[in-house]
Order: sequence, then structure tokens, then C-alpha cells
Amino acid sequence: MNSTRESWASKLGFMLAAMGSAVGLGNIWRFSYVAGENGGGAFLILYLASILIVGIPLLLAEVSIGRKAKSDVVGSYRTLAPEKPWYLAGFLGVFGALLILGFYSVVAGWSMYYFWNYLSGYFFTVPEQGYGATFETFTSSTAQPLMWHGIFMVLTIAIVLTGVKKGIELANKIFMPALAVLLIILAIFSLSLDGAMEGLRFLFQPDWSVLSNPSVYIAALGQAFFSLSLGVGVMMTYGSYLGDHHKLPGATVGIGLMDTFFAVISGIVIFPAVFAFGIEPDSGPVLVFITLPDIFSQIPFGGVVGILFFLSLTLAAVSSSVSLLEVPVAYLMRTFKWSRRQASIITGIIIFILGIGASLGMGAWSGFTPIGQLNIMDSMDYIASNIFLPIGGLVIALFVGWYFSRREALTAADLQHQAVGRWWYVIVKYLAPVIILLIFLNALGVL
Ligand code: PHE
Ligand code: NA
Repeated sequence: MNSTRESWASKLGFMLAAMGSAVGLGNIWRFSYVAGENGGGAFLILYLASILIVGIPLLLAEVSIGRKAKSDVVGSYRTLAPEKPWYLAGFLGVFGALLILGFYSVVAGWSMYYFWNYLSGYFFTVPEQGYGATFETFTSSTAQPLMWHGIFMVLTIAIVLTGVKKGIELANKIFMPALAVLLIILAIFSLSLDGAMEGLRFLFQPDWSVLSNPSVYIAALGQAFFSLSLGVGVMMTYGSYLGDHHKLPGATVGIGLMDTFFAVISGIVIFPAVFAFGIEPDSGPVLVFITLPDIFSQIPFGGVVGILFFLSLTLAAVSSSVSLLEVPVAYLMRTFKWSRRQASIITGIIIFILGIGASLGMGAWSGFTPIGQLNIMDSMDYIASNIFLPIGGLVIALFVGWYFSRREALTAADLQHQAVGRWWYVIVKYLAPVIILLIFLNALGVL
């Protein structure tokens, strides 16, 4: 019945796309500011624990659902559990993907703007008011950030509409290694700055007192999910384009470790610089857009590094945004028989509109704080990352752990003959749900 459904050209194609989805703004922009706001070292440990104990096992579970069902996030649950309410979690995924892409593309637009300003040479030297004020002026204005958000969405739509295979695979093959090399060079430079030790201490020396704050746990879990692209159906959808003969466990561990490498290395770039340039580590979402240009302005050929860096960052963001757009697009194509073209354009426009709120929330609408003190963008991020994604992950764990039989679960994940299979199963069935629930109850103040 699905004879015309698309599929990856190879297992490598799947791995690259999934890594491309995982590695993005979350590793550099989001990781550094969330770590900075949550005290550094102790957060890092909770984050790494979330990745290893909950994240990677659930990544395998999510991909295995998609590959088994060969459908989008709603359709996968519908296919495997007909007439049961599991598919409702699929809608949570579709909405979560829209919500995330709504603000993600605004930030990606900032990255493009930076790329443009390096390309034109304008950012090669420190602008008169400094990078900090320049950034504030730009993001709080109305037209410019919206224009870049629009350009970025057009790019994302264009790629999704062509089909994921060619463009994304190629871009990933070139720019992910480029980003890795640049980050390593920058890390070495950053470590040579005065104040580097203080930055490393902040990142690696846990201050256990922050652990008494419940919000640190939910932040670490949310960051782990966000960074792994876990819980919205991206990995389920990507897994659905994968043939049954490709083995999953090694692939998912590879994706998780690669993603973690990019986060830790960017922490090593950012935090020494944060302390060297006297920026507060808890400055929030603006952190990298101010520290990185400061670093570049001090390195020989820093302007060229700036060009390459923001180009790589933008392309890393594209491969993530493409994966986010693919979630609703795959759903709409199947459900309403829309063409890929129609689904991509209509969804892209909806996301553009959502992003207007996120962008204006930095300026004209900054007085509007939907959740506590959080502006529109941070509120969208909070709801999506700290609530939608963990719930999506919880449902994945319950579905594989409790709805599937043990044999079905192990077979779907290609772990039926592996010794680690029993551990994975225990984690998915018991440990992951318990941890997610405990963190939720704790954040709600119940525990
Ligand atoms: N994982 C991506 C990043 O780190 C963001 C993302 C989240 C992509 C959720 C898809 C789904 O930038
Ligand atoms: Na990531």
C-alpha cells in the first residue's frame, strides 16, 4: 500500500540526516545558554546522564517505531495500535515541531545575518557600540530579523519540497566536518585566553548546590531531548524512510555521541571566552551571538573564521529545521493526500507566522511574557522543550515498553540477539518513564 513512499538511498544517508537533525543551534546556542543559566558543571553532569540513561535508549526506541510502522508520527501510532488513543501523542509531535521551528528559524535567521555581516566585512572589526549592543539593536528591531527569518524559512521549504535526499545529504557531508574542525580550532584558541581556567571550572567543576533547584533537572532533561531531536517524531519520521535490513543500535549510539561531542566542544569554546570577556554566563539566549564575535575579533584571520563559522552554523541549523518541517509535512501528505510541495509551502507559511511572534517578542512585543518572566520566544521554547518533548519521550517509552511485547520491542530495535537488549528493555520499560515522571513531579513541586 505504501509502494510510492520515499526512502533513504542508504543507511549512511539516514545517519547523516539524523545527525544533521541532531546537531544544530541546540548544541551551540541553546546548550551554552541553558548550561550558563543553570550553573554549569552540575548541569553538565545531569545533561550527560540524561543523554546516556534516557536519551540514547529512547532515540533507539523512537527510530524503531518509525521503521516498523513506515509512517509519519501520527500514522505510526495509528498503524501499530489501530483504534487506540496512542496516536494523540502523534499530534503532540506535530504541534511540537511547529512550535520549535517557529522560534528556531528566527534564531537561525540571526545566524544568517551574522554570516552576511562577516561576508560583507562589517563584523571583521568590533562595531562602534560593541557586538553586544549591535546584537540588541538588530534583534529588537522589527523588519530585519523578520526578513532573515523569512529567508531561512524559504530555504528550509525549498529543501523539504525537493525531497530530503540530495540537498541535505550533500550539505551535511561537507559542513558537519567543517563545523567540527572550526569548533576544535576555536576551542584551542579559547583555552589560551586569560580567564580560560575560570571558564573550564564553571563548565566542569560541579557546584552541587544548584541540584537543590528542581528547575535544573527539567532544564537538563529538556536540553537532552531538544539536542537529540527526540520526542517530536523527527526520528520516527526519519526512521520510517529506512529499510528493515539496516541495523539500528549502532546508528543511534553514533548519533547520540556525535551530538554530545558537538555540545561539549562548544561549551569549551564559549565558557572560557565568556569569562575572558567579562560576560555573565547566565546572560541567556544572547550568549553566543556576543561571545563568538568577541573571540573572532581577537584571532588572526578572525573575520574569515567568522564567515566559515556562521556559514557552518546556519547549515547545521538548516539540516535541523528541515527535519522539523518534515514532521508535519509527512503527516499532511498522508492524511490529506497533499503533494510534498503543497504541504511544505502551507506548513512553512504557518511556521513563518508563528515566528513573527517569537521575533517581535525580542523588541516591539517584549512586554508580553506568556510564562513568568519569559518572553514569547523563551516561552515557546519552554513549552516545547520542557513539556512536549519529555511527554513525547514518555509516550515512546510506554509504547515500546508496555504496548509492544518484549519480543516485538527487541525485534523492532534489532536487539533480539544482543546481550545489551535486556538492559535497553529495562531502561525503556521502567527506568526512563520513572525518571521522566519524577522530574515532572519535581518541577511541579509535587515532590
Ligand atoms: N536537535 C536540534 C538542535 O540541537 C533541534 C531539534 C529539536 C531538531 C527537535 C529537531 C527536533 O539544534
Ligand atoms: Na543537538
